[in-house]
Amino acid sequence: MESRSITTVIANDNKCQITWSDGQVSHFHALWLRDNCPCPECLHPQTRERVLDIMDVPQDLMMPTTIKIEAQNLAITWQDGHLSEFNASWLKDHCYSEHALQSRKEKLNFWNEDIARSIPEIDYDAIMQEDSGLLQWLDMMVEYGFAIVRNTPTIHGEVCKLAAKISFLKETNFGREFEVISKANPNNVAYTAISLKSHSDLPNWELPPGVQFLHCLKSEATGGESTLVDGFAVAEILRLENPEAFELLKSQAIPFRFHDEEWDLSHEAPTIGCNASGDYTDIRYHAALTAPLQIPSDNVLPFYQAYRALTNIIRAPENILELKLMPGDVMVFNNKRVLHGRAAFDPTSGDRRLEGCYVDNDAILSKRRVLRRKLQD
Ligand SMILES: [Fe+2]
Repeated sequence: MESRSITTVIANDNKCQITWSDGQVSHFHALWLRDNCPCPECLHPQTRERVLDIMDVPQDLMMPTTIKIEAQNLAITWQDGHLSEFNASWLKDHCYSEHALQSRKEKLNFWNEDIARSIPEIDYDAIMQEDSGLLQWLDMMVEYGFAIVRNTPTIHGEVCKLAAKISFLKETNFGREFEVISKANPNNVAYTAISLKSHSDLPNWELPPGVQFLHCLKSEATGGESTLVDGFAVAEILRLENPEAFELLKSQAIPFRFHDEEWDLSHEAPTIGCNASGDYTDIRYHAALTAPLQIPSDNVLPFYQAYRALTNIIRAPENILELKLMPGDVMVFNNKRVLHGRAAFDPTSGDRRLEGCYVDNDAILSKRRVLRRKLQD
């Protein structure tokens, strides 16, 4: 708590500099402070949503001379007489220095074949009975992009109960929940017995499902091993080995499409998604759902070259985690980060039955924040 006390504040034109008792320094703009005034006139006391209209504040707002510091509080009286009182701890949590922004970034653990020796896994009961177990699972999901839930009852519908610990389910054109078995008239290669190369699900949607659950109910057939590839890790390998290919896959949107009797779902997006800071946001990679390229002619051959370079990395054995799911295992993975696949299986050798469903990533992150708050109190 001590490191969150304010030692000095120096106001300078349109900014102020706060020195904390641990020696760290934060800078806040007057406009930012005024915009984030927590008084009940500016921030709705019940909804905690902003009521202040920034257009009522001059863009060239200067720091006033009247600033009172108490160890745990900063009180600013603005030129128009309005009083803003900030909690020191809140200010430190919202410091936007480069160092603070970096330290608050989610720690992602990019993995390769070594992950096989330390698979993120957790027992079903730990999740269902204790908030701490649920939080532990969500932490694994964020850090590694996947986790295996062991000892889940092998009962139809149980996977939806597990997913419901996080959120309502994301329904898609394949339904609220789906079964992965070989079917007589498949509308998707997942419903056959052939091998499925690494892919992400439903890239043909503007918002593909964030997290996929696959619950193994029966695993008697020969073959059918599941595979996972860290899409962010392989994108990073491509960035280092072949920056031109990386840039093209990041910038060139390509069309994805699924169509059957009832649906014609189509969306264009780049293969590798990054935000403005260069952090990975999503990978869309599914040969079966990639529609004929409709891109500038000059980009066609470079695109194929870049796509093949990425595919070589995705298929390199050292980047593939192979798992034989056993009854009771639920493989849960971030569909925007982790590619999944399976080896071919022999449907005549025994039953293979998986049940699956999806939830959104927002729900994972929200539940994690809510649980952290709850367990800290
Ligand atoms: Fe899939």
